[in-house]
Amino acid sequence: MKGMVFTELVEFIENTFGYEAADAMIEKSILSTDGIFTQAGNYPFSDLLAMVITLSQELNVPVETLIEAYGRHLFKRIVALYPPITYGFDSPLKFIAQVDTFIHPEVLKLYPDADLPSFKLISLVENELIIDYISSKPLAPLAKGLALGCGDFFKQDLIATYEIIEETPKIRARFKITA
Ligand code: HEM
Repeated sequence: MKGMVFTELVEFIENTFGYEAADAMIEKSILSTDGIFTQAGNYPFSDLLAMVITLSQELNVPVETLIEAYGRHLFKRIVALYPPITYGFDSPLKFIAQVDTFIHPEVLKLYPDADLPSFKLISLVENELIIDYISSKPLAPLAKGLALGCGDFFKQDLIATYEIIEETPKIRARFKITA
């Protein structure tokens, strides 16, 4: 996974739960590195999972809750890195509906080695979007958080729910997102 996902996580945890929590998350996890992440690096997904599981135990907060909160924060950070990505969009639902056809393909131009999930648009009718998240990683809570963060960005309160409809060979989660 891209280093940015790790550097932003550490910063988010420092700012939300404090430096001690961030230190404990790194120190008490078995990682492939010494716990120093750089934006330019690439790190195994297992490192991310190990840190979030440690933090979940430290804070007694479910893993899904932490990942979702992180995703919500992450959206504004990635958009700040690539502001043009939102140009021309006036609605979060239309933006999310285009993650697979426009947003992530743009990301691949910048980072050909990015390991991205895919999304399949089921329907977008008025203020309701149904879209499937398909990934080799169990990161539906991250997708939910990113979707809510997208709502924040466009100043709309979205409601996002999902159910896992397939576990293998990939995770498939069906999202219902309402504006
Ligand atoms: C609401 C919109 C978006 C959603 C729901 C979304 C969803 C996700 C998810 C869930 C992942 C984790 C990988 C996985 O689950 O397999 C991911 C990875 C990523 N996304 Fe998005 N994304 C969105 C918008 C964006 C935008 C706007 C950018 C940048 C302009 C972006 C760049 C990336 C990058 C760089 C990764 C990491 C790839 C890697 O580690 O190799 N995404 N995205």
